[in-house]
Amino acid sequence: MESSFVLPLGLNKAEAYARFLNDYTAFITGETDIVAALANTSAALHEAFGFFWVGFYIVASDEWLSLGPFQGSVACTRIRRGRGVCGTAWAKGRTLVVPDVDAFPGHIACSSASRSEIVVPLRDARGEIHGVLDIDSDRLAAFDDDDQRGLEAVVEVLCSTLWQ
Ligand code: SME
Repeated sequence: MESSFVLPLGLNKAEAYARFLNDYTAFITGETDIVAALANTSAALHEAFGFFWVGFYIVASDEWLSLGPFQGSVACTRIRRGRGVCGTAWAKGRTLVVPDVDAFPGHIACSSASRSEIVVPLRDARGEIHGVLDIDSDRLAAFDDDDQRGLEAVVEVLCSTLWQ
């Protein structure tokens, strides 16, 4: 198997996500192993968009998220429900876009270079949350509505292949 997620130059964000989603859907559909799917999703997003840190935190118990597959520097291994951007997105059950992590109360700094962040919950067909996709940038306000829409669409494909 050989797959490349490198995007052609000159696409705007919406075009880049549309192109990514098309290739990613063909690539990931049918994968039912959670670690394999999360690992390749992190790698594909990193290759396509060059994110500073991209990966997953997985629901490990009623109270805790555990670090899952990712691309980037070593990161915090446990995040409590309701804490940090990841734990808050999990508790609230919705995507959080944080333009300036220093202005987010309780932000958990795994890397001092991280300046902005987006977190998207992973939900099965019944609405149960199994984890979150977490992406950090070393630039302020790196994520906008195009990123939210694009990444929510990627997560929807991922969740429907893992949990129908
Ligand atoms: N900043 C996150 C912690 C995870 S790292 O960004 C990889 C948070 O506040 O939940």
